[in-house]
Amino acid sequence: MSQFLVDVLKGLSAPEKYLESKYFYDAAGDAIFQQIMDCPEYYPTKCELEIFSNQTQELASVFTNRFQSFDIVELGAGDATKSIYLLKELVDRETNFTYYPVDISTNVIDQLHKKLPPQLPALKLKGLNGEYFEMLEEAKQQSNNIKVVLFLGSNIGNIPLNKAEDFFRQLRSHLQPGDLVLIGFDLKKNPLVILAAYNDKAGYTRDFNLNLLKRINKDLGGDFAVENFKHYPTYDPHTGTCKSYLVSTTKQQVHIEQSTFYLEEGETIHTEISQKFSVEQTNTFALNSGFEPLHHFFDSKKWFLDAIWRCV
Ligand SMILES: C[S@@+](CC[C@H](N)C(=O)[O-])C[C@H]1O[C@@H](n2cnc3c(N)ncnc32)[C@H](O)[C@@H]1O
Repeated sequence: MSQFLVDVLKGLSAPEKYLESKYFYDAAGDAIFQQIMDCPEYYPTKCELEIFSNQTQELASVFTNRFQSFDIVELGAGDATKSIYLLKELVDRETNFTYYPVDISTNVIDQLHKKLPPQLPALKLKGLNGEYFEMLEEAKQQSNNIKVVLFLGSNIGNIPLNKAEDFFRQLRSHLQPGDLVLIGFDLKKNPLVILAAYNDKAGYTRDFNLNLLKRINKDLGGDFAVENFKHYPTYDPHTGTCKSYLVSTTKQQVHIEQSTFYLEEGETIHTEISQKFSVEQTNTFALNSGFEPLHHFFDSKKWFLDAIWRCV
């Protein structure tokens, strides 16, 4: 039985149904995520892109001032739109480094191997297709160099807030003293701005959520009637937690393999968390999980933070 099937059956059997957000990213999901990133309401990519494109020199210098040679391991690299600015600057400086993009989506890694060599012919590139920490271990097997881990796009926000510190402890346990990490955090801001980013007018976020049901139908032989579900995003400014649900608009049954799941009209399937943070919270994460905060890079609106931490 595939891990995807195991996780889907577990999530739909829970008293409060859920599906894990890491399964959004098949080829169709990757393409819809590109549309989300380009739509006017989705500010996180634009803010982080501003940091990487306007402060490229400063970012690169943090690494080149410290290390003669190193590896960049990017967890959940996606299309590397932001990191490419840093990669280009490092290549231009003739820095000795290898780039290991890690992604659970096979399509993402294939696309990066097609896209990056023509743009940066001198880049040493080794894509790794799989889960974050398994592939970080794989990168360590391939080279003993100092590691610089990128974890951008506020991907950390897709983990429940009470598990974020565990994630950073786990990350730290795979690294050595002196290694660096660069983490993107989407910061708390006007709740209306945040909610709009997950409820765009063109409906890309809606399509992204519904695509998960289509993927279950396609890859696991499910029979979700996708038209019987509506996208429902929420944001709680006190906790900073943004959540997306799919709401069943009718009483219905869904079959996957030998299992049948029953949904009442109005019942929800939780699909995604996008946590928003305060700067203080991010410093506390670092200090509690074996890192020392070194640098903070903000966009001009101070909506997004790229923090660089050193492993102690
Ligand atoms: C929200 S996208 C962000 C992409 C990119 N970092 C950015 O900032 O634009 C998340 C990416 O992480 C990947 N991903 C999600 N969960 C993962 C996991 N557990 N292990 C490896 N990759 C994962 C997805 O396939 C997707 O490409």
